[in-house]
Amino acid sequence: MLKKVFFILPIFAVIGYFSLLALSSTSMRPATTESLPDFTLVVSGQELGYLEPCGCAEGQIGGFPRRDSVLLQLTSGGKNLLRVANGNLISDAGRQSELKAEIGFTALKEMEYAAFNVGPRDLLLGIEQLNYFSNTSGIPFLSANLFQGEARVFQPFVLHSVHLKDSQKQVAIIGIISQQFEIYAENASADLILKAPENVLKELIPQLSSECEFIVLLVHAGIDEATALAKVFPQIDVIIVGDEQSEALREPVSVADTVLLNPGTKGKALGMLDIQWDKGEERTDSHFQLLTLSERTPDSPRMMDLLFMYQQMLAAENLSEEVEREIPSTGGMYAGNASCKTCHVSEYASWKKTKHSHAYHTLVEKGHENDPDCLTCHTVGFGFQTGFINEPQTPTLADVGCENCHGVGGNHAKNPQPGYGKVTKANCLTCHTSENSPNFDYDVYFPKILHEAMKAITTE
Ligand code: HEC
Ligand code: HEC
Ligand code: HEC
Ligand code: HEC
Repeated sequence: MLKKVFFILPIFAVIGYFSLLALSSTSMRPATTESLPDFTLVVSGQELGYLEPCGCAEGQIGGFPRRDSVLLQLTSGGKNLLRVANGNLISDAGRQSELKAEIGFTALKEMEYAAFNVGPRDLLLGIEQLNYFSNTSGIPFLSANLFQGEARVFQPFVLHSVHLKDSQKQVAIIGIISQQFEIYAENASADLILKAPENVLKELIPQLSSECEFIVLLVHAGIDEATALAKVFPQIDVIIVGDEQSEALREPVSVADTVLLNPGTKGKALGMLDIQWDKGEERTDSHFQLLTLSERTPDSPRMMDLLFMYQQMLAAENLSEEVEREIPSTGGMYAGNASCKTCHVSEYASWKKTKHSHAYHTLVEKGHENDPDCLTCHTVGFGFQTGFINEPQTPTLADVGCENCHGVGGNHAKNPQPGYGKVTKANCLTCHTSENSPNFDYDVYFPKILHEAMKAITTE
């Protein structure tokens, strides 16, 4: 009989522990081997292109640099880790995602991940690219139910030996994508199909459960579908569940003897399940923590180096110039702040005093001035024809400028007419999102950006 005891350490206690270890190496006392579990299953996934937090607001969580420090601290404390990634590393198609994938897989390799369950979003890279990453990253890419004709595209599972004090255990890690994501397979290639997970597992599980002491299933699916699988296959010990929308589970869900975990999206948290065998025979208890990667977790230098390299790749490929550009919905051409200044000297002067006028400089300070992910909100008209390209080519479209609030102004600048440029709250919210500006309060923020002339009128 398996006896499972779950409890969650208060998150602050866990983080306090790590920051303590990080801040003072002299205070670092490795736990005695008695108190350590046989091994710890470390689960993450659904980064969706978030390699690090953007830094727009204080208190943002997540990122590879913090994840790596936690893992390094755990291993130096003597923990035996088995790290598995539940895919969806990227979120979109395109060159920037390819570069993200290049950096992301290098990072997962450096962090010694044992398996990567290819996700529907990863399929946006295309099979050729994924095969390239599968071959070059050195991480086993899994997908038991993704087929091209009658052949699997990636291996269905990987076996991993976990070395215990005086024995070793075979662990099987299987990867699955729910058929609800069929459209991603179809779009990647006309001959790709997702077979029914249940049928595929019916073939794999009996064999694996006779060969292995521990079975982990990584599945791109919601909790309901994963629960149904747990009921059909009680031999599975742990199911890592999640899709691009599902929320992290603070506590595991138990379905008979199977444990379901979800570390959430955007790389914000890391799930850790301690596994223990009684006298090397029966699994006795498991202890789970969902560790939120807060600002108090230090950044690992090697991940910071990788992210720096990523920014250099964006610059080297001139990606801000290469992105696709839509035609502005209002038509016309962007004029630039300098053009508006010729007639609206006082508005220009008051805008200069707001933080908007150095939004591009903020990116320079952060080393993100070539990053399309940031330019959309920190410059004028990025992603639109005649909008920002880069500073040398479009210097008067750097920063959050006049036309971010008043709209494309080329026609107005040539032929000024009343009625142009009404500003609404909805306009602010395109950039001041809950993620990028969690403290945004229109009534508090609005007075800070009002032009001097308007302030004079409103206070009169
Ligand atoms: C969806 C729009 C959006 C995107 C995308 C975005 N930002 Fe921001 N950023 C903002 C807003 C809005 C603020 C102001 C937040 C506030 O003060 O409430 C901000 C503020 C910041 C600040 C703080 C500036 C200060 O004065 O303290 C930094 C740093 C920053 N962003 C960096 C980045 C980086 C780096 C990226 C890309 C990885 C990025 N931003 C992407 C909207 C965005
Ligand atoms: C050639 C001079 C000139 C340039 C360049 C110019 N404007 Fe104007 N703008 C005017 C005049 C004149 C008015 C007043 C029109 C009226 O009320 O008859 C005006 C009005 C406005 C208004 C108020 C509209 C209203 O009905 O209340 C806004 C907002 C505005 N301009 C923004 C801009 C922005 C942003 C730019 C740069 C893209 C810009 N202007 C460039 C001359 C100019
Ligand atoms: C194109 C994107 C964009 C739009 C539209 C936008 N903002 Fe911003 N806003 C930013 C960014 C980016 C920053 C951070 C600038 C920096 O410090 O680098 C910011 C900063 C601010 C700040 C300074 C916050 C602080 O910490 O003091 C205020 C206030 C503000 N915005 C108000 C507004 C209001 C009100 C609107 C709508 C009328 C608006 N913004 C529209 C992108 C935008
Ligand atoms: C963060 C948003 C924002 C930015 C950036 C901004 N404005 Fe405005 N502007 C407003 C708002 C809000 C009003 C008030 C009128 C309204 O509600 O439409 C206004 C009003 C105006 C007016 C007409 C009223 C007046 O003050 O006489 C002009 C002209 C104007 N802005 C020009 C500019 C110019 C030029 C720039 C760039 C140097 C600029 N604005 C940048 C938000 C913005």
